[in-house]
Amino acid sequence: MQPISRRQAVLLGGLGLAGTMAGSAGLIWTLTSRETPVTGSELAQPREERSAKGQLQVRLEAAPGQILLAGRQTAALGYNGGIPGPTLRVRPGDVLKIGLVNKLTQATNLHVHGLHVSPEGNGDNIFIAVDPGGTFDYEYKLPEDHPPGVYWYHPHHHGMVADQIFAGLFGAIIVEDPEPIEASAERVLVISDTTLDGLGNIPEAPAMERMMGREGELILVNGQSNPQFSARPGQRERWRIINTCVSRYLRLRLDGQQLQLLGMDSGRFPTPKTVDELLLTPGNRADLLVTTTTGESVLRALYQNRGSMPGMMGPGSGTRNPAHQPDGAALATLRVAGEPVAALTAVPSQLGLGDLRSDTVAASRQILLAAGMGMGMGMGMMRFTIDGREFNEARTDTTVAAGTVEEWTLTNTSPMDHPFHLHVWPMQIIEQNGQGTNTAIWQDVVNVPANGRVKVRVAFKDFRGRSAYHCHILDHEDLGMMGAIEVR
Ligand code: C2O
Ligand code: CU
Ligand code: CU
Repeated sequence: MQPISRRQAVLLGGLGLAGTMAGSAGLIWTLTSRETPVTGSELAQPREERSAKGQLQVRLEAAPGQILLAGRQTAALGYNGGIPGPTLRVRPGDVLKIGLVNKLTQATNLHVHGLHVSPEGNGDNIFIAVDPGGTFDYEYKLPEDHPPGVYWYHPHHHGMVADQIFAGLFGAIIVEDPEPIEASAERVLVISDTTLDGLGNIPEAPAMERMMGREGELILVNGQSNPQFSARPGQRERWRIINTCVSRYLRLRLDGQQLQLLGMDSGRFPTPKTVDELLLTPGNRADLLVTTTTGESVLRALYQNRGSMPGMMGPGSGTRNPAHQPDGAALATLRVAGEPVAALTAVPSQLGLGDLRSDTVAASRQILLAAGMGMGMGMGMMRFTIDGREFNEARTDTTVAAGTVEEWTLTNTSPMDHPFHLHVWPMQIIEQNGQGTNTAIWQDVVNVPANGRVKVRVAFKDFRGRSAYHCHILDHEDLGMMGAIEVR
């Protein structure tokens, strides 16, 4: 049993259990019992805010509240009272203005994950802290040639990122296609995981789970547990899938339906790639076309081994981990029935982000991802480092000349995978474990396998300023697995 700590009571603003329970027998019961999720309701879409005349202005209020999650009233955190927060739809060239209001009892801030925008001033600046009761007006100017695709927003205040996302602070951003892709239905599937105790509170993650990277007992789509939806055969649906889980890798299948991947993150393949399985590490997004066939298909998350540390149990290895079932966890159920629909026009070919493989490289860098026993942090506490050190906001770890192309070799010396993320500038994967890639693959979160190596190239164009790279197992990021970069 884990006691409710002050930290958790503070995070949730004392709304839940902490203030209401009396008697230790009751306390033990509520902490060890679990809220049963309500399954099978109709898939909901987060509310949408769309830009008009080149601008979208929204107010995002981060606040604790009684929020609907897995069909239950829970004590969680939400943007504007919902989980996920509103979906923001913008176009290349737009200005996105977000007024962040902090109604939490601790500091927060906002990061627009994957957007190619300035990291300076009131742009995508993660070094800003918004104190409780405070507000901050962010303004992001998207370049005219900003890649279309699926992005997302979440807090990035160092040390609190995993807790705030696990409690419900995240939402989708969509950058529309310059040339529309015809689809019968557009769906946003924001996948998250969390844990709810018997009273609908989110328990604090113990130190051991933080080191492994916590995995929640519930895997939710748009805050719902195994929702259902229907379609007619022959439909081409557009699904925008986001892995907002703090640490969980999502290996997704939708057997019985035809899947074509337009791209991951801000990347695009020239023509859609037929797939039957999809691996999204934390932070990754998929822009997917689903062509429907009569029958019932379940979107499943299968167990993905991401390694472990010696002497530790695997991540989320408890019996309550839903992905440990032989056929994985059911995330959503699609029923296809009725008269077939008429075929849609062909998917226009996609431009993509180009190819840096024959570019001149101005600098080659080694980035070392490591985990090892720590000194002075208490017995059994691991250190999670990049280039041998933990994040220090006052220190710049990497300085890059603006306008150049660099090649980074990401080396992982630990026995667990780390998904490496760079802000602002997308990465092209050049080589994975000694194997060169034969197409241009662009992502902003790249998995670096246990004891493995990945080479990427980055064009540091369009913007200058300070930003960050880090492991997107957000517990690792909070433990210090992050570096600061300055492009100048
Ligand atoms: Cu999605 Cu620096 O994060
Ligand atoms: Cu990011
Ligand atoms: Cu990591």
